Amino acid sequence: MTYFSDKVAIVTGAGSGIGRALSEELAGRGARVILADVNPERVERAAEAVRAAGGRAVGARLDVTDSRAVQDLVDETLAREGRLDLMFNNAGIAVGGEARDCTLEDWRKVLDVNLYGVIHGVAAAYPAMVRQGFGHIVNTASIEGLLPFPGTIGYVAGKHAVVGLSNSLRIEGAGLGVRVSVVCPGYIRTAIFEDSKMINLDREKALEGMSSMKGMSPEDCARVILAGVRRNRAIIIVTGWARIMWLLQRLSPGLIRFIMQEHFRRHYRTLRIED
Ligand SMILES: NC(=O)c1ccc[n+]([C@@H]2O[C@H](COP(=O)([O-])OP(=O)(O)OC[C@H]3O[C@@H](n4cnc5c(N)ncnc54)[C@H](O)[C@@H]3O)[C@@H](O)[C@H]2O)c1
Repeated sequence: MTYFSDKVAIVTGAGSGIGRALSEELAGRGARVILADVNPERVERAAEAVRAAGGRAVGARLDVTDSRAVQDLVDETLAREGRLDLMFNNAGIAVGGEARDCTLEDWRKVLDVNLYGVIHGVAAAYPAMVRQGFGHIVNTASIEGLLPFPGTIGYVAGKHAVVGLSNSLRIEGAGLGVRVSVVCPGYIRTAIFEDSKMINLDREKALEGMSSMKGMSPEDCARVILAGVRRNRAIIIVTGWARIMWLLQRLSPGLIRFIMQEHFRRHYRTLRIED
């Protein structure tokens, strides 16, 4: 028996990266996992891999920007499994670009998935968890939700909002039996950057820079997340670099602003295509 044995968990963005690794790790520890992703082939492959390894899993096509579809998935899960223990609002996209280069459409697209996707998951799962008197909502933000991060402006806005939402909901839910955690990873080696939109940036150069970074595997990231969930941590920071940056942000926000400004000037600005 493990802490996760027989727990019913929904994981969004489970077709790839952190969501897929979380689903595999949860199922490996005995949970019943509903893998959800906007990409039907990816999610079916991921669910099949979990089942092939002996886990209990079903795959579902889900676009987290569709509130009705998120509600339906939660309702179907409750009807079939009788309860919902864990809701991982993990689906996300990356969009790079400075504010001066982003159209309103660019802002909307990233906020629709990264912020409204989480809101839809909370709006569907939280009332059900309050009714049943237990449950744990785990929202994926980023270290970019805790620090100023120039050059990925819409992404940063969404991730800061997810941190604020999660920290506040944690307090509301505490007396009602519902736990809330927010995950803030540093660099994890997933497909998110290849799949990302880069606005007025030299894509090849940007990806080259990322590939030279060490980062953490999604599997190790999933293990850190589940350790934090088991201990009911409010904020789960993943990677050593992210921990150091978060510590510095609390000790000296001015120093972090300086570091970010220098990084932006020396590195990020060299990726810009047109001035
Ligand atoms: N990889 C990193 O370095 C890193 C760092 C910090 C935070 N994060 C966050 O972790 C989460 C997972 O990212 P990842 O790195 O595993 O990326 P990934 O691209 O490997 O996986 C994301 C998954 O989300 C799915 N998805 C995208 N839009 C969706 C939608 N509208 N509805 C449902 N599913 C959708 C994609 O199809 C994909 O399978 C994201 O929220 C991301 O912002 C990642």
